[in-house]
Amino acid sequence: MEKMKKNNQVSLEEMENQRQFIWQIRAKNEKAALESGSRPKAYILTLGCQQNEADSEKLSGMAEAMGYEITQAPEQSSLIMVNTCAIREHAEKRALSMIGQFKHLKANNPDLVIGVCGCMVVQEHRIQDIKRRYSYVDLLFGTASIHRFPELLWKKFQAGKRVLCSEEEEYLVAEGVPVRRENKLRAWVSVMYGCNNFCSYCIVPYVRGRERSRIKEAILEEVKQLVAEGYKDITLLGQNVNSYGKDLGESYDFADLLAEIDEIPGEYWIHFMTSHPKDATRKLIDVMASSQHIARHFHLPMQSGSDRVLNAMNRRYTFEKYIGILDYIREKMPDAVITSDIIVGFPGETEEEFEETLAALRRARFDMIFSFIYSPRKGTPAAELYCQIAPNEQSRRYDALLMTQNEISLASNECLEGKTLRVLCDGPSKNREEVYSGRTEGGKIVFFEGKPEHIGEFLEIDIERGDTFALYGRIKNISEG
Ligand code: 5AD
Ligand code: SF4
Repeated sequence: MEKMKKNNQVSLEEMENQRQFIWQIRAKNEKAALESGSRPKAYILTLGCQQNEADSEKLSGMAEAMGYEITQAPEQSSLIMVNTCAIREHAEKRALSMIGQFKHLKANNPDLVIGVCGCMVVQEHRIQDIKRRYSYVDLLFGTASIHRFPELLWKKFQAGKRVLCSEEEEYLVAEGVPVRRENKLRAWVSVMYGCNNFCSYCIVPYVRGRERSRIKEAILEEVKQLVAEGYKDITLLGQNVNSYGKDLGESYDFADLLAEIDEIPGEYWIHFMTSHPKDATRKLIDVMASSQHIARHFHLPMQSGSDRVLNAMNRRYTFEKYIGILDYIREKMPDAVITSDIIVGFPGETEEEFEETLAALRRARFDMIFSFIYSPRKGTPAAELYCQIAPNEQSRRYDALLMTQNEISLASNECLEGKTLRVLCDGPSKNREEVYSGRTEGGKIVFFEGKPEHIGEFLEIDIERGDTFALYGRIKNISEG
């Protein structure tokens, strides 16, 4: 085991280099703004997970620093970036269809720059696909090159032809990239990037590289800053946060990081995702239980309730070990909200093994699950297995899984009727202005009658009704404010 601290960071010189490109593009955009009377606009489309959302906030931050106004209107933009996802086939199809839809915008505006980045375009066959079939894509780069966005965009302007950055990059940590946060209340903070686990179905280790942790000082500084700016809910992100620090060769682990973050004064919640059950330690659960700010919410993907399938998935735990962690969480934090990810229709999954997953759901009693139909990913070991399950059988299992979980979710939400929960208020709901929504510490959505002054506040809500997917209530002692 390497004990020396590895230098996993993009060098200061390289980051300075990128700042120079930012300034060069900014000067160009300011000149264009003077001539046309308005700043050029950039549209950034994000597909996929929270990690991608966090990456897109960096793309927006860099675009803004380069003098673009961020817009939600692609047809008014001079720069369109599509940040893609590769986790399942559906996500890739969606990305390709979105890229296809932007073609006509290019026909109307030849100066429009269209870029594609993210997990999908780290895969060689997709890079070739885009090169051949989407000739109007000007810019292409993978997850390792996000911090080089200004340089690549500048190259595109200079060369006047497409810049396809498909060379193998080293996966490093880039500190100091400008970030433009989408939400004023809830923020993402990456604590590490990449994954070493190679679950047999998963593309992530191939498209996001090996695990690399940010240094704790940078994370603590970012969280402190966010709390000072008034952020109330901060989610620490990583493909497997429980591995935090292992690559730095120090004994300081994720539980230590949580304990140190918890000491930052203020009124806020800390969430984290995702945890791998094989690395979820009692120490981590103890830190959560005794903390002030760490939300009592555990997202712990189980994937399957069958030991044979878990082994074929290369998950490196048994159902018994998994349930032992859940029992310990509930012993220490009886009101903890526990959520999970489940895959159905993994190659070779028998009816009995699927039934084991249903039984596991009844035993685990998750508050909520994210369920997925297995999707073969080119290059992963599971995609090579001969015993793929027919799509109609996968769908049947998926429906049965949802039915089982919906009953459990309903029961768990009904249990909250009559309780008073702390809720962070987001604002009016989409459909009815007087109905506000917010989330509990465990991430459950709550609807109640609210007022504009409640936005961004922690409220005590008396829960009147629990449904399968939401809670309904009213603000406690509304007359006292
Ligand atoms: N097919 C279906 N679901 C997948 N996931 C990851 N890879 C695949 C795949 N190939 C699911 C896992 C993971 C979640 C983020 O996505 O459940 O926890
Ligand atoms: Fe994929 Fe497994 Fe890594 Fe999660 S832990 S990102 S499922 S390989």
